[in-house]
Order: sequence, then structure tokens, then C-alpha cells
Amino acid sequence: MQVATISFDRFNTLADADAHERIRAARARLGDKAVLLCHHYQRADVYQYADLTGDSLKLARLASQTEADYIVFCGVHFMAEVADILSKPSQMAILPDLAAGCSMADMANLAKVERCWRELTEVLDTPDQFITPVTYINSAADLKAFCGEHGGIVCTSTNAPTILDWAFSRREKVLFFPDQHLGRWTGFKKGIALEQMVVWDPDLEYGGLTHEQIRNAKILLWKGHCSVHQMFQESHIKRWRAANPDGLVISHPESSLEVCQQSDYVGSTEYIINTIAAAPANTRWLVGTELNLVNRLADEMKPQGKTVQFMAPTVCMCSTMQRIDPQHLAWTLENLADGNVVNRIQVPAHEAELARIALDRMLAVS
Ligand code: 13P
Ligand code: SF4
Repeated sequence: MQVATISFDRFNTLADADAHERIRAARARLGDKAVLLCHHYQRADVYQYADLTGDSLKLARLASQTEADYIVFCGVHFMAEVADILSKPSQMAILPDLAAGCSMADMANLAKVERCWRELTEVLDTPDQFITPVTYINSAADLKAFCGEHGGIVCTSTNAPTILDWAFSRREKVLFFPDQHLGRWTGFKKGIALEQMVVWDPDLEYGGLTHEQIRNAKILLWKGHCSVHQMFQESHIKRWRAANPDGLVISHPESSLEVCQQSDYVGSTEYIINTIAAAPANTRWLVGTELNLVNRLADEMKPQGKTVQFMAPTVCMCSTMQRIDPQHLAWTLENLADGNVVNRIQVPAHEAELARIALDRMLAVS
């Protein structure tokens, strides 16, 4: 039976212990009507409730496979949008705190990408013939729709190399947004010269580039970055290596080119976890990705004698992902158990249809 929606105000000041009790009670009432998907960056007090965990690619696949009515996404906004697009019409994607966005995703928007495309049209005449737009999954649904409409595709940190191959097999250039670092590292690994990967500054005319630079470029890299991963620096690695000559360094490809070049391994959050888990006992690791993941991994690896250390000397978490706390989760689940849908993420139908084209291309290729 549906009862009136409970306001979040009543949960805001809830003690943690009470929030946890209410999460457990609401989950018991919901049973398999709700599934909790958690990204690896989720804080430990929420992550413990995950039914399914993963990096962006794995979570996208899992969201498309679950049968639950409610897909409660403990992650950020674009992830819940992907869950909505890939799930059945009868299912609902829920984001426990609507303020859980991704600052990198916000660095590109449709108006700026369309302006970029118009300016490219002036230089190249028909960009649809020459450029494949590739959006990192960390982007709003309307940008995925833009890619779907213009023969483009979505990529994640796991499949970016395969997706670039796909993109170049169709057209000679790539417009890669919004993360310049993932685009640059992926292009660099494919042997593309750095001079042929130019940065498109969306706040400047023609991205701040000359027509010649645009014509000569293989990849146009959108000027966007992740505020967490920009904290990691080459000097952190050098200092650590001096003290740990046998140690191994692993980083997320949202880190700068210099950090990726200095790392022994580079890959997605799932790759980082799997690589360290599979490593021999007693190895030492320096990890360049978000702190919640690194702390969890450090605890899990301790029994095997592995040491796992965070790369930056300062504390840097994904502050938006951090917003999903036990209070928001308790509020969300209790409302759902009462039959009240709160914080549903619903991509408009036309946009979802086009975005799905770009996502399906990605899922088919990877
Ligand atoms: P993964 O797909 O590697 O989990 O990365 C998502 C993300 O937002 C990293 O900052
Ligand atoms: Fe976005 Fe960076 Fe947070 Fe990943 S870590 S969700 S890219 S802000």
C-alpha cells in the first residue's frame, strides 16, 4: 500500500546507526524489487549494501541485464542515465542524491558541442564524413545522443582503445569529449603523435585552434578533466619509487599523460582492483585513483601482505559520489518500499533513443 512520500528533512539529521537500521528494514521489505548497483568509488558505509559492483562498463552491462523494478544507482548522474537508457521501459533508475553529478561530465554540454561541430563544418565542410564523435561515458545523455545521431559512439576507460579503432576505421579524425586525458593516453598508446592530438577549448572560437591545426589533427581533445585525477603528479611517483624500488604503480587513465607514462599499469577501476588482487603476495602498490577505492583495496589486500598506497599526499575523493550517504540511501529505499518513487532519473524518449544507438555500438564493439 502506498503511503505519503517521506521528505528527506526527516532523514537529514538521522544518526548513522538509525540510517543503517532503516536501510536494512527497507531492503527486507523491497526484496528483489530493488537492486543496488555501486560504483567502486562509493563510500564504504554505502558500498557494503551493493548487490552488484563494477566500473562504468560493467555497471552499464549489469543495468541492462537486471530484472528488478528499481535500479538504485549508488554512483553519479550519468551512470543512472545509462541505466535508464539500457533498462526495460518498466524499470526505473533511481539516484539516491540528485546532486551526485560528475564535474568532468559537466565540462561539456550540448550547446558547446554543437557549436564545435558548426565550427568544424566551416573548416572541414562535412564533419560527418571526416570526424567520428566519441564521448566518454562520463557525459550527459544528450551528448551520447549527439554521438548516436552523428555516426559516433560512447567509450569507457576499459574499452577506449577498441572504440578508437572503431572510430578510425570509419572516419579519419576523432572528436573526443569530455576527458582530454583519456583521449590523449589512448591515442598515445596507438602511436598517434602528440602534435596530432590538439586540445579543443570550447570557450574559444574554433577551440582556440588555427584551421591548419584542425585539418592536421587526428584527435581533437575536448578541454575537460577529472578534478580528482588531476591531483596525481609524476613527482609523487618518482618520490615513491625512490623509497620503494621494487614497488609497482597503477593509475586510472583519467590521470595526466605523464602519470600514465610513469605507471607500470593503466586501466579502469575494475582493472586496478583485479590487477592488484591477482598480484603475488607481499607486493607494494602505489595507486592513482579515487581514495575510497584505494582505502578499501588496502584493507582487502592486507591479509596477503600487499601494501596499497594512495598516490597523492592530499586527501582527494570524488566529492559528488561521496554525497550518497546512508541517510540518502535510507530515505530512497524507505520511499520505494512504501510505493513512492523518488529521485527517478528518466532520459527523454527521443534523446534516449539516439543515446542508445551510441551505447549499443559501444556494447557491440567491446
Ligand atoms: P571507471 O569506468 O574506470 O570505473 O571510471 C569511472 C570514473 O568516473 C572514474 O573517474
Ligand atoms: Fe567524475 Fe572524476 Fe568523480 Fe569520476 S572521479 S565521477 S570523473 S568527478
